[in-house]
Amino acid sequence: SLLALPAVLVAYLIGSIPAAAWVARLRGVDIRKVGSGNSGATNVLRSLGTGPALAVAVFDILKGAIAVWLAHALGLDPAWAALCGVAAVIGHNFSPFLGFRGGKGVATSFGTMLALDPLVGGGAFVVGAACIWLTRLVSAGSILGALTAVVLALALPRPGWLILTVAFLAALLIWQHRDNIRRLQAGNERRLGEKK
Ligand code: G3P
Repeated sequence: SLLALPAVLVAYLIGSIPAAAWVARLRGVDIRKVGSGNSGATNVLRSLGTGPALAVAVFDILKGAIAVWLAHALGLDPAWAALCGVAAVIGHNFSPFLGFRGGKGVATSFGTMLALDPLVGGGAFVVGAACIWLTRLVSAGSILGALTAVVLALALPRPGWLILTVAFLAALLIWQHRDNIRRLQAGNERRLGEKK
């Protein structure tokens, strides 16, 4: 379809809206200079509190979901819808509004997966959220959730394009967490509710 490539571009632009950085700036905070320095809901929670963090999380989840819904609404094939979701995550992680830097793509990947496949996205959420609840480590829960999505996409009867999409999103998410992984290994990763 002639609409496929424009849809991917629009999805990238939707994803690139840097909710965390802009919400923080409204409160007079440079999100890159506080906490982990990450432009994401977790770091907004750390530096600004629950309300702004929830708003950023919902907005960033919606960026992924809306990218997928847009493709569906245009009548594009499901594989193109998946590519639109991936484009939204790439926009979030490498935003032109932030000098092609950005967040780690957890919320936007979740929104994409939920819109593409509620069972895979929902299963990943349950396992990731349980891990965060138990350990207070958002990074560890995000990585475990992403790995859960890959296992679910492989274990359930799912088409190749979905498996590839989920595997790519998980690989990108883990790569974006490389500093967190170093801190987890060193035992000095920030925990939720921790003073510091
Ligand atoms: O929101 C991404 C999360 O997995 C880690 O965020 O700020 O602890 O690096 P942060």
